[in-house]
Amino acid sequence: MPLKILVGTQWGDEGKGRIVDLLSAQSDIVARYNGGDNAGHTVTVTEHTFKLHLIPSGIIHPHTLGILGNGLVINPKSLIAEIEMLRESGVKVSPERLKISFGAHLITPGHISIDRAREATLGKGLIGTTGRGIGPAYTDKVSRKGLRMVDMLDLPLFEEKMRLHVQKINYDLSIYYQTAPLPEDKIVHEYLEYARQLREYIVDTGAMLDIALHEDKLVLAEGAQGMLLDVDHGSYPFVTSSNVTATGVFSGLGIGICAVDNVIGATKAFQSRVGAGPFPTELDGEMATRLRGTGAQPWDEFGTTTGRPRRVGWLDGVLLRYARRINGLTDLVLTKMDVLSGLPEIKVCTAYQDKNGESYAIPPMGISSLDQFQPVYESLMGWTEDITQVRDWDDLPENARAYIRFVEYTSGVRVMMASVGPERSQVVEVPA
Ligand code: IMP
Repeated sequence: MPLKILVGTQWGDEGKGRIVDLLSAQSDIVARYNGGDNAGHTVTVTEHTFKLHLIPSGIIHPHTLGILGNGLVINPKSLIAEIEMLRESGVKVSPERLKISFGAHLITPGHISIDRAREATLGKGLIGTTGRGIGPAYTDKVSRKGLRMVDMLDLPLFEEKMRLHVQKINYDLSIYYQTAPLPEDKIVHEYLEYARQLREYIVDTGAMLDIALHEDKLVLAEGAQGMLLDVDHGSYPFVTSSNVTATGVFSGLGIGICAVDNVIGATKAFQSRVGAGPFPTELDGEMATRLRGTGAQPWDEFGTTTGRPRRVGWLDGVLLRYARRINGLTDLVLTKMDVLSGLPEIKVCTAYQDKNGESYAIPPMGISSLDQFQPVYESLMGWTEDITQVRDWDDLPENARAYIRFVEYTSGVRVMMASVGPERSQVVEVPA
């Protein structure tokens, strides 16, 4: 069946938005299966830069249908604002072009307040969440008291459920967090209005996808965040609350396990992370500033959702091998190669060493204890040429080609494409 999966192989922000945009040119449907508006996808098309948080970036192509699967947690206020932003930029978004699963869960101001209040109590154990209510919304989901999109279709019942929800949150806020209660009436009326605006978008997206796949329509499943933030396989507890990995596609879209054409891993040519948690190859000082950029450009290393400067470091080949194993990666797209231009030496971590000097190709107990290891690096020679205008493999400097081949060697996955700048056309196909 014609399903492609795109997943971030690092801690998010690998440049998936622009890859989705590229792959969408050949897709009929682009579907998100996890997360919420904690995600941030930046797509640059000529002079237009779109920053999307919820709607699949493939929607920018006029022929695609966008789907928000049941695995998502959706803040209706953000969603409506994004629909309006896209419309203002000339991208048509209507119930014909965007479908929302009845099973997706809702994020409310209550979840956002709990997220922020909880973080404020964590001290050193702070996760550094995006503050978008993601964790509390998924907590409600698994504790079987969540609010779902389908609830919005029965307004009297929805009003009742919303009231109960706000009352329960207000109880938690005052008893556990000693913070002010939220205005129940205001929130309930706001959400009833969102329900009126969104009801036509809510359908059984799993059934739609099943039919589409049987009709050989091309479906692209777009992951949000990166797999190292997966709740099961990431650097727990410094993770998000959803299944980011490729296996999350089936439960998050409501389709059966079917043949997948490719599992494509988006990988930045170096490594970045926002929020707290271990990061073995992290750099500081001048080199970090050099990789991060100043924030003057939309593609510099500052959070799309929060604006926080990202932590940056050398590419971690150990974690890339781990990402290959958990996701069954068939291909990689290596992004931001142009940022490495001008560096005399580029390092790649190929193994870890513990304090007794023992070496590991893969951490022995998953990746939660990454801070116990020192990275072992391989040094590669850099290149001085500006590569932003290069479109052919043969025109890349020899050392840039050698870097890409080294990434293939260390990860065990072929690189299908490398990006050399933020614009849609700035990519180089990599021959096998
Ligand atoms: P949450 O998803 O807001 O609960 O945040 C949990 C962790 O995931 C924090 O470290 C966030 O910074 C990180 N995170 C969540 N979404 C993204 C993303 O789209 N890109 C990068 N990091 C993210």
